Amino acid sequence: MGKFYISTPIYYVNDNPHLGHAYCTILADFFARYHRLMGDETYFLTGTDEHGQKVQKTAEKEGISPKELADKVVVRYKELWKKLDISHNDFIRTTEERHTKGVLKILRKMIENGDIYKDSYEGPYCVSCESFFPEKDIVDGKCPDFGHPVTVLKEESYFFRLSKYQKSLLDFYSANPDFVLPSSRMNEVRSFVESGLKDLSITRTSIHWGINFPDDEKHVLYVWLDALSNYITALGYGSENEELYNKFWPCDIHLIGKDILRFHAVYWPAFLMSAGLPLPKHIFGHGWWMKDQSKMSKSLGNIVDPNPFVDEFSSDVLRYFLLREKPIGTDGSFSDEGFIDRLNADLANDLGNLTSRLLALLDQQFQGRVTEGDGSLKEMALKQLDDYYKAMENFAPKEALEIVWAFISSLNKFLVAREPWAKPKTKDSETALSEAARALRLVSLQIAPAMPHAAGTIIKSLGFTPVSFKNFKWDDQQETRAYRISNLFPRVDKKEYFKELESKKEKAMETEKPQEEKREEPKTVSIDYFRAVELKAGKIIHAERVPKSNKLVKLIVDFGTENRQIVAGIGKKYSPEELVGRTCPFVYNLEPAKLMGVESNGMILAGNIDGEPVILQFLEDVPPGSKIT
Ligand code: MSP
Repeated sequence: MGKFYISTPIYYVNDNPHLGHAYCTILADFFARYHRLMGDETYFLTGTDEHGQKVQKTAEKEGISPKELADKVVVRYKELWKKLDISHNDFIRTTEERHTKGVLKILRKMIENGDIYKDSYEGPYCVSCESFFPEKDIVDGKCPDFGHPVTVLKEESYFFRLSKYQKSLLDFYSANPDFVLPSSRMNEVRSFVESGLKDLSITRTSIHWGINFPDDEKHVLYVWLDALSNYITALGYGSENEELYNKFWPCDIHLIGKDILRFHAVYWPAFLMSAGLPLPKHIFGHGWWMKDQSKMSKSLGNIVDPNPFVDEFSSDVLRYFLLREKPIGTDGSFSDEGFIDRLNADLANDLGNLTSRLLALLDQQFQGRVTEGDGSLKEMALKQLDDYYKAMENFAPKEALEIVWAFISSLNKFLVAREPWAKPKTKDSETALSEAARALRLVSLQIAPAMPHAAGTIIKSLGFTPVSFKNFKWDDQQETRAYRISNLFPRVDKKEYFKELESKKEKAMETEKPQEEKREEPKTVSIDYFRAVELKAGKIIHAERVPKSNKLVKLIVDFGTENRQIVAGIGKKYSPEELVGRTCPFVYNLEPAKLMGVESNGMILAGNIDGEPVILQFLEDVPPGSKIT
């Protein structure tokens, strides 16, 4: 029996879980379930990243302690994982005692190896945010979060000798070319390391919410050493009982989003080398789910909440959609329409119809009796099973499910060719239906990692006892009794669905309080007052009407370093098509607001002719993000 250890990233608790987080956890669950069905002893870890500045700041804003915030948000993660049928073996929180113990053990080993030293860290510092920011995030001397002025500050810090591991890392990548997957990402990582590694600051004295550095308590571990260690602390590393660690480490695969690849493929292996511990076998950097061409984020207001989809359609449907819709390595765009289309085509039509039709025919003609069949589908079935195994071993869920759906389509064709409905209760009908039932049993096993509920229902209604891949045999369980069920995935009327969605949105809008408040404006303003308004050039890269409004247009605006969603009241005069591609001036630091339920982060500047808005444009080409002073 093999062993398989898979992990998700640990999620920050400064915000609620969204579809992107759900995606990564569903992917991990899919592989964990597959390996369990292969008979592998499987360990699946997820959890939350609860220390550090982001959490500290959000808690401050909410007027609660960081631990209170973590306790509140962690529940939302746990509830969502339950709803999505996530079958993790453990859930680690970095505020747990067992985690701190493990982190301190790994740190001690790094110290013993001479890899930690004290120096000072120098970088752009924002006094208002009380934090350092990477040089690349500073635009025009302002912090990326709030646009406060930054100054260069020196702070005492402990450093890790990352530079010492450059050669060892490159040697390791050469010996393990599939360490980072997909392979294109391995090249990215290798080039980064080849371009030279600087030592890494691993503590801060300006952050208080975290694990204290031993014997120098004003220093708190900077989040990444703390966070990455979760993959071994959860296994008991650093505790009295390291049994799980000894059994499962090194991890087979750390599944992560592509944005945190460097931390996992460069820093984490270097930390482990320094502590004298084995390295994980694979790091897989998956692509993102985008909405309106941008990665989901709170500031863009384009976050998709997975909860309504589960509530309305079931966790099986959402899981299937996310796994099947886009290749794991690349980005994909989420839309309600795409979701409904996929549900109708693959689930209601292909799989749902096949199942209900087959069960109905078996019931009508043979009181549900399934016999041995004639073996005519066996070869095709086992061949596609082989291809499916290959796709699963290559961490390719979309491809694996495509293989199963091609098989489902062959089964539908098989029934059309054999026409059991045209020759009821004959031997030929009996063997054709029984053969198809055996094939559908295999389908149910193959979809089990993606849709555990549907898989269980199908196998049960066919009268077979559940098996795993390990003990699956095409011809065992010679006779069973099937029973009818209604379509597992009722077809969704798209028009009705969107009508209902709109009316729900309208109702929600009615309960929102109006945003516009009348304020007294001063007659003249000082130059400082004016300067407080940050104006920037932005290029409109996407525009669409806000439903139910003839005035409002939702824009996605490129500001060079980020894309923002901005709602503008110019829809009576301009069509969305006329707006895309234009570079206009925007108020950049306006408080976020909701207009007809749509989040807006900024404001387009426009003139007014007889009550009609007219947008402004520059006489020359201005790069997006340019400041207007
Ligand atoms: N806490 C760190 C990870 C530490 S792991 C030792 C972190 N947390 S996070 O909550 O910001 O992100 C967690 C994961 O969610 C990342 O892998 C990130 O790529 C993923 N996603 C966040 N938004 C996403 C999408 N829109 N689509 C897919 N996954 C994305 O980073």
